[in-house]
Amino acid sequence: MLLPPTHMALHSPRLLSLTRRAFSSSPSSFQGGVSMVQGASRGIGLEFVKQILEYDDKEHVIATCRNPSASTGLIHLKDKFADRLKILSLDLTVETSIEASALSIKETYGRLNLLINASGILSIPEVMHPETTLNKVEKSSLMLAYEVNAVGPILVIKHMWPLLKVGGGHGTGRSAAVVASLSARVASIGDNRLGGWHSYRSSKASLNQLSKTASLEFARRKDPVVCILLHPGTVDTDLSKPFQRNVPPDKLFTKEFSVQKLLSIINNVKIHDNGKFFAWDGQEIPW
Ligand SMILES: NC(=O)c1ccc[n+]([C@@H]2O[C@H](COP(=O)([O-])OP(=O)(O)OC[C@H]3O[C@@H](n4cnc5c(N)ncnc54)[C@H](OP(=O)(O)O)[C@@H]3O)[C@@H](O)[C@H]2O)c1
Repeated sequence: MLLPPTHMALHSPRLLSLTRRAFSSSPSSFQGGVSMVQGASRGIGLEFVKQILEYDDKEHVIATCRNPSASTGLIHLKDKFADRLKILSLDLTVETSIEASALSIKETYGRLNLLINASGILSIPEVMHPETTLNKVEKSSLMLAYEVNAVGPILVIKHMWPLLKVGGGHGTGRSAAVVASLSARVASIGDNRLGGWHSYRSSKASLNQLSKTASLEFARRKDPVVCILLHPGTVDTDLSKPFQRNVPPDKLFTKEFSVQKLLSIINNVKIHDNGKFFAWDGQEIPW
């Protein structure tokens, strides 16, 4: 019997295999959780990617950073976890790169169960120096710190929000999707006893307020999303290197230790933790 062309085409072995392949890469076919780590090129963000991939062999991780080809750490992880790690280019100061990442994640995975904002700036040689006195406060440093530490992360949360879904996700037993943004204890206004670092402190305080505000909206809409802020401790990374001189050795954490502690908070978070600011040891920090 002569089959009509469309029917014949659908039964061709080559097309059947192509159709299966198309289905097997559809968003719904991802069984494990889907986590995104923003600011993953190095430091604490890179360590989050590594530990999440190692912890659960079903977990998929999207690692974003400004310049993926320059991150040897991410390239190394991609070699090891080729099927479960996707690397995307995202610059916090370019909103279109945030939107493009959200679209790519939607098309590939259809959801996110965990979003970690791990990026941050404190000092940049020749560009931004943590202020030791009011006289050294400059508009350019304030604006840059706000753009990278506060504006960028809340835009990431905004664009990823439609994708945040419960079910799966790194760490079993969670009843909500989690958004965790890396803040710093020095952002606390109540705990500010030393002064200084005007740009960094105030930009992280702004991140805290923006995240708290988002958390209230999630709660009001009954969205099962928990939005928290985390202080990682003083961690031995590029960010803290220029300021480690007065830190006692037992107060300077490794990335491995800090991220283990932070993942333990993330994995045990409950809906009533929405909007809270936690230190690495699980203690709440005053605003
Ligand atoms: N280390 C500490 O002691 C400490 C203490 C308290 C809080 N924190 C917070 O913890 C987080 C991680 O810090 P860290 O110690 O891991 O710092 P880090 O090693 O200096 O890494 C900072 C990360 O932020 C990224 N980043 C900077 N500007 C960006 C931009 N415009 N767009 C996208 N990504 C950008 C960097 O990417 P590039 O590689 O492209 O520059 C890098 O991945 C930060 O939010 C920091 O404020 C750290």
